[in-house]
Amino acid sequence: SMPKKVRIVEVGPRDGLQNEATPISADTKIELIHKLSEAGHCYIESGSFVNPKWVPQMAGSEAVFEGIQKKTGVEYAALTPNMKGYERALASGADEVAIFAAASEAFSQKNTNCSIAESMERFAPIIEAAKRDGLKVRGYVSCVVGCPYEGDIDPEKVAEIAEKLIEAGCYEVSLGDTIGVGTPASVKTMLNAVLKKIPAEKLAVHLHDTYGQALANIYASLELGIAVVDSSVAGLGGCPYAKGASGNVASEDVVYMLNGLGIDTGVNLDKLIQAGDFICKAIDRDNGSKTAKALLAK
Ligand code: HMG
Ligand code: MG
Repeated sequence: SMPKKVRIVEVGPRDGLQNEATPISADTKIELIHKLSEAGHCYIESGSFVNPKWVPQMAGSEAVFEGIQKKTGVEYAALTPNMKGYERALASGADEVAIFAAASEAFSQKNTNCSIAESMERFAPIIEAAKRDGLKVRGYVSCVVGCPYEGDIDPEKVAEIAEKLIEAGCYEVSLGDTIGVGTPASVKTMLNAVLKKIPAEKLAVHLHDTYGQALANIYASLELGIAVVDSSVAGLGGCPYAKGASGNVASEDVVYMLNGLGIDTGVNLDKLIQAGDFICKAIDRDNGSKTAKALLAK
């Protein structure tokens, strides 16, 4: 049955901006994050502590985290691929960290320069340190439906990696259709395989909209009881190691759909649209949300 409430994980400041070629100042990112919290977002992935040579746009994440005026009740999270990233996140005041694995060996190599098994070895000390420091750890699995290098991905492989992340100590695993190739059929097949091992309460969907399927796939996920949805304001984004991948599903479009379904998100659509309009103007980018375009034209 459909959930009554959905928690939206806003990934715009991280997933949305990581692929932008022109440097974006910490001040602009901080202003975006403030506008997103003002709109009612309670979880904002605000940056990542990866090798700055791999993702230059995220190099200044220290300054971003240090500049945020934290709002009570909001989690400001960071992506951390290894202990070095974890130490940087901790020192900068991140509330929560996210580790990221893949269901495809080739993608794991391209994205993190290691095998899936090696990535799990890197995560163990992060999870241990986070426990000690009182930080929650979220897990990601990339390429849950398809991989830019390997093609179709076996749902059993996704279930296996997701289960390993939960067993290792992640409170939630976000299932990423990194290149947006899924349809409601393949997403449901994948989710049913994962749901045999992990309850819906511990799962999120993270859907890129490359083929225009993300909203349909979210609806399909809701039908299977998933109640956490990752999205990116103004549909910003793409992954540097997944050529042709477009942005995440736009947060505005998700909120509009959930409002229509009578599902509570706690997010104010008008304020969210203002946040998206702000960042699109600041970085001179087309707004990727159809809802925002429609309502801004009024
Ligand atoms: P590596 O080059 O193999 O690392 O990168 P290394 O351990 O061999 O170290 C090489 C150098 O990098 C050393 O410096 C390290 O200190 C430095 P040097 O001695 O040469 O001066 N280094 C670091 N510096 C700062 N922070 C760090 C760090 N780690 C090492 N954390 C690594 C391995 C995993 C770090 C690299 O491959 C990397 O940074 N990958 C991240 C790529 C990335 O950010 N991708 C996008 C995010 S994932 C995503 O978007 C998918 C998602 O949205 C879900 C979905 O859509 O599917 C989550
Ligand atoms: Mg992503």
